Amino acid sequence: MNDFRLLGQASLAELICAHAAEFDDRQTLATLSVSYLLDEVAHGRAVIEADEHAVAVVRPEGWRARKGNAILWLIFVDPEWRCAGNGSDLVMRMKVTHARKLAMHLLCHGGGRMKFFERCGFHVKQVIPAGIVMMAPCRG
Ligand SMILES: CC(C)(COP(=O)(O)OP(=O)(O)OC[C@H]1O[C@@H](n2cnc3c(N)ncnc32)[C@H](O)[C@@H]1OP(=O)(O)O)[C@@H](O)C(=O)NCCC(=O)NCCS
Repeated sequence: MNDFRLLGQASLAELICAHAAEFDDRQTLATLSVSYLLDEVAHGRAVIEADEHAVAVVRPEGWRARKGNAILWLIFVDPEWRCAGNGSDLVMRMKVTHARKLAMHLLCHGGGRMKFFERCGFHVKQVIPAGIVMMAPCRG
């Protein structure tokens, strides 16, 4: 795939939604669409940020009961560029960019990625129904 940084917000939203099946939880599969994502961006409830081979969607002010904590909502790495550090680099960049007063939390979609996020320095905070786990940064 091309350099993700050259793509506009609509193209990035399309890219993420085209791979929604990879997020592996019922809620994301049922609700994620390009129009929903762009609407959340337009209202300041989400920002889409890209590195060369990876894209992330962050809710900068949190979401619902988690208002106040920035939440890393979605992260997607170009399948051709996986297991090369691109995912963890972007998680770390988002953690630094979006943690203001409160530390950034993240949503882990499907249990398989939990190890990946634990390696990025997060631990399980809360299990949300439909296969999503809220994770918080470890101290220190
Ligand atoms: C999960 C994801 C973001 C990781 O990105 P990445 O660039 O491959 O990750 P890194 O190179 O920084 O880290 C690689 C490590 O994560 C693990 N990992 C990567 N993808 C994984 C997956 N789908 N399930 C379980 N572990 C995974 C690898 O085993 C690897 O560990 P290793 O070095 O011991 O082999 C990427 O696989 C992806 O985009 N997946 C599809 C979308 C997705 O699942 N997003 C996360 C939703 S919670």
